[in-house]
Amino acid sequence: SAAPALRSGLLRWYDAHRRDLPWRFPAAPGREGREKRAYAVWVSEVMLQQTRVPVVIDYYSRWMARWPTVETLAAATQEEVNEMWAGLGYYRRARFLLEGAKQIAEKGEFPSTASTLRQVRGIGDYTAGAIASIAFNEVTPLVDGNVVRVISRLFAIADNPKESSTVKRFWELAGQLVDPSRPGDFNQAMMELGATLCSKTKPDCSQCPVSSHCQALVLSHENPLIGVTDY
Ligand code: ADE
Repeated sequence: SAAPALRSGLLRWYDAHRRDLPWRFPAAPGREGREKRAYAVWVSEVMLQQTRVPVVIDYYSRWMARWPTVETLAAATQEEVNEMWAGLGYYRRARFLLEGAKQIAEKGEFPSTASTLRQVRGIGDYTAGAIASIAFNEVTPLVDGNVVRVISRLFAIADNPKESSTVKRFWELAGQLVDPSRPGDFNQAMMELGATLCSKTKPDCSQCPVSSHCQALVLSHENPLIGVTDY
C-alpha cells in the first residue's frame, strides 16, 4: 500500500506549513489538559462550520475568555450564549453547544471517542472525528468538503459526493488513510491541503506533497473535473 508514503509526505508538508491558530495549542499533561483541548477543538470546529478563519479567531478568543471550560459554559444562559454568538449566524449551533456542554458537565467527563462523542447533542460525524482525533488521539477519520475533494482526486472518484453511498465510501477511504501515530494532525493536514493547494478550480499540483499518489493528476487530461463537484 502507498498509504505510509502518502502519510509521511502529507505530515511533513503540514509540519512546515501549518497555521498557528489559537485552538492549536499542545495539551497539558493529564485528563484536564486533554479535556481543555477537546473543548477548544469543539468550539472552534463548530464556529468554523460556516465562518472563515480570521473571523473565527476573533469570536473564539472572546468565547474562551468568557467560558474557558465546558463546566463554565454549562452554567451560562441561552441569552448570554446567543449574545456572544451574534454575527456568526445559524443560532441552532450555539444552542447545541450549550446543550452539549450541559450534557457533558452532567456526565462529569468529556467523551473521548468518536462513537461516544456522537451521542452528544449537536455533535455529528465530522465534529466527533475532529475532537476524537485531535484532542484524544483516536485513530479515526473525518470527512468534510475539503477532504472529499482531496480523496476524490487521490482515488479519481468522479461519483457524485452528494450521494450517501459515495459519502460512505469517502469515510471508508479516509479511515484507511488516517495516520495511526498522528491521527489529529493527519486529519487537519487533509483539510488544510483541500483548503489551500488542492483547491476546487485551481489545484497547485506542482507544490502538492502527495501529487505522486494522485490518480486524478494522472487522468487529468481525460477528466479535469474530478474534485470540482460541490459537496
Ligand atoms: N477547517 C475546519 N477545521 C479545520 C482544522 N482543524 N484544520 C484545518 N482546516 C480546518
